[in-house]
Amino acid sequence: MRIGVLGTGSVGQAIATKLISLGHDVKMGSRTATNEKAVAWKERVGQGASVGTFADAAAYGEILVGALSGAGAIDALKSCGGSSLAGKILVDISNPLDFTKGFPPSLSVCNTDSLGEQIQRTFPDLKVVKTLNTVNAALMVDPSRLHGGDHTMVMCGNDVDAKQKVKDILTGWFGWKDIIDLGDISNARGTEMFLPLWVRLYGVLKTPEFSIKVMR
Ligand SMILES: NC(=O)c1ccc[n+]([C@@H]2O[C@H](COP(=O)([O-])OP(=O)(O)OC[C@H]3O[C@@H](n4cnc5c(N)ncnc54)[C@H](OP(=O)(O)O)[C@@H]3O)[C@@H](O)[C@H]2O)c1
Repeated sequence: MRIGVLGTGSVGQAIATKLISLGHDVKMGSRTATNEKAVAWKERVGQGASVGTFADAAAYGEILVGALSGAGAIDALKSCGGSSLAGKILVDISNPLDFTKGFPPSLSVCNTDSLGEQIQRTFPDLKVVKTLNTVNAALMVDPSRLHGGDHTMVMCGNDVDAKQKVKDILTGWFGWKDIIDLGDISNARGTEMFLPLWVRLYGVLKTPEFSIKVMR
């Protein structure tokens, strides 16, 4: 499958590398067509990898992965042009973290709205599925790093078929065993508001390798 990964940070790199290892073709997108990190990634992983602008990656992908900074996510997607996004699934991993006052960051949107909803409202033809934003990049694509993968991933979005497709990707490609569908995209408020706890746990545990296990 052709996948457009929007983002050159640790999330974009982890997801893109995993997808290449599974035999998919991946274009990593950035604000510039020759982003240094994207070009280095392409050289590292080789066959199936390509780089370009956010618009290039969006046009290329049958499915899109949004590994974008919270502050830049909407602008990055706007730069793609509506026709490249229309009808496609966007796996939205971004968190609306605001570091302007240092660590721990606050959320730039919360309680009655979320970044996932803002993206869905701005791009109504995009099928936004919010997931993976509650764990660090390495765990996203290899949950077995922790307790044999015995922990929980949450997801939400408005389009039932899109969520099923993303669930198949999480289980079949990445190895997630326990996925809870929270419902429509307004539930991104809950998954994003986990971050204030996540950053504090990180501050105490001194490792990003932890996750939620929902016992029921
Ligand atoms: N790091 C993790 O383990 C982790 C875990 C869970 C969730 N997340 C979330 O996943 C997202 C990606 O995280 P990350 O650490 O991989 O990378 P990041 O540094 O948060 O974001 C990287 C991407 O955002 C783009 N970007 C930054 N400012 C922008 C702007 N003003 N306009 C347009 N695009 C802009 C960058 O574009 P360029 O390529 O042009 O620089 C880059 O591709 C974040 O929202 C983060 O909160 C991260």
